[in-house]
Amino acid sequence: MKALYFSTFGSSEVLRYGELPKPKLGEQEVLVQTEYIGLNFADIYRRRGTYHIEKHSPYINGYEGAGTIVDASSSELKALVDKKVLFVDVPFANAEFVAVPVEKLIFLPDRIGMKEAATIGLQGLTADFLAHDLGNNAPGNQVFITGISGGVGQLLSQILIADGVRVFGSASTKEKQEIALSLGVEEVFSSRETDWQAANNNRFDTVFDGVGKTLESSIELLHNRGKVIFFGMAGGNPPAIDLVDMLAHSKSILTGDLWDYLSSFEEREKRSQRLFSYLINNKIVIHEPTIFSLKDGKTAHEYLESGKNIGKVLLKTKEK
Ligand SMILES: NC(=O)c1ccc[n+]([C@@H]2O[C@H](COP(=O)([O-])OP(=O)(O)OC[C@H]3O[C@@H](n4cnc5c(N)ncnc54)[C@H](OP(=O)(O)O)[C@@H]3O)[C@@H](O)[C@H]2O)c1
Repeated sequence: MKALYFSTFGSSEVLRYGELPKPKLGEQEVLVQTEYIGLNFADIYRRRGTYHIEKHSPYINGYEGAGTIVDASSSELKALVDKKVLFVDVPFANAEFVAVPVEKLIFLPDRIGMKEAATIGLQGLTADFLAHDLGNNAPGNQVFITGISGGVGQLLSQILIADGVRVFGSASTKEKQEIALSLGVEEVFSSRETDWQAANNNRFDTVFDGVGKTLESSIELLHNRGKVIFFGMAGGNPPAIDLVDMLAHSKSILTGDLWDYLSSFEEREKRSQRLFSYLINNKIVIHEPTIFSLKDGKTAHEYLESGKNIGKVLLKTKEK
């Protein structure tokens, strides 16, 4: 099968595209022929060697994809062949075929297409757990999202707005600011400037920060008893934080990794159905993804790292 892989950590230069053996199925596994594969920031961290990673040689990156079940490890599971599925937490996904444990399958409802599922999958489930497990915001609460026009940011904004929460945020370019405003965000500030910060300090109930290096400014935006939800470092690692100062203002920092919330088939099913219902009820609009062929994975990595993307970056396995 064709796959995108690497043997040493480093820049996008370490990525190779070529022929590797198809995965062998273990117990309770099915073989998924991928159509669209989600590229995520975590794949960049893994390629650089700065994030948890399974042992494998050469290493096939990626954890998210949408495709069709084409084989199964037991006659009982063969009944699943031809089903359309999504997975978001299965390693070695940058390939034409992926061995997926049955527990990690998310079956697609008829109304959700393969490209749509791959576009919304991991970022959507992340937005869902950030909003509903960590944010727990009441209607009327004011929240701020850094990098608001990123994939997670756009979906999180729309989920929160649909839940009655007032959403504000920051983005780097005019184009990105306008995208967030078009989704119903009340005000979007320039992340390249700081002149708006002082007037907005001590204002927000919750700040969702997936940029990382912005953590200090995110804490300042909170009113006393507010919380920052730190969930990623697309812009670089956060600085060390003075907890005594946080205590003096009863401010908190919560963190979370989606995988700790996808702990069973039932959890995946419940959470994906909740997410899909926002889409089916037109509460979420998905920005058209940027699609690269799997063989152009190196360019896709460089594009995602450049911060130019708006919304999801997908890798497509079939040429046509
Ligand atoms: N905790 C979890 O379970 C979980 C799951 C999925 C993703 N994440 C994290 O969520 C964050 C957002 O992910 P995403 O998939 O939405 O990514 P994305 O679509 O690429 O969005 C990231 C945003 O970060 C901003 N950014 C600031 N500095 C940047 C830099 N140096 N390079 C690139 N982007 C920069 C960009 O917005 P501006 O141009 O407006 O600054 C960009 O739109 C990432 O940190 C990711 O690791 C966490």
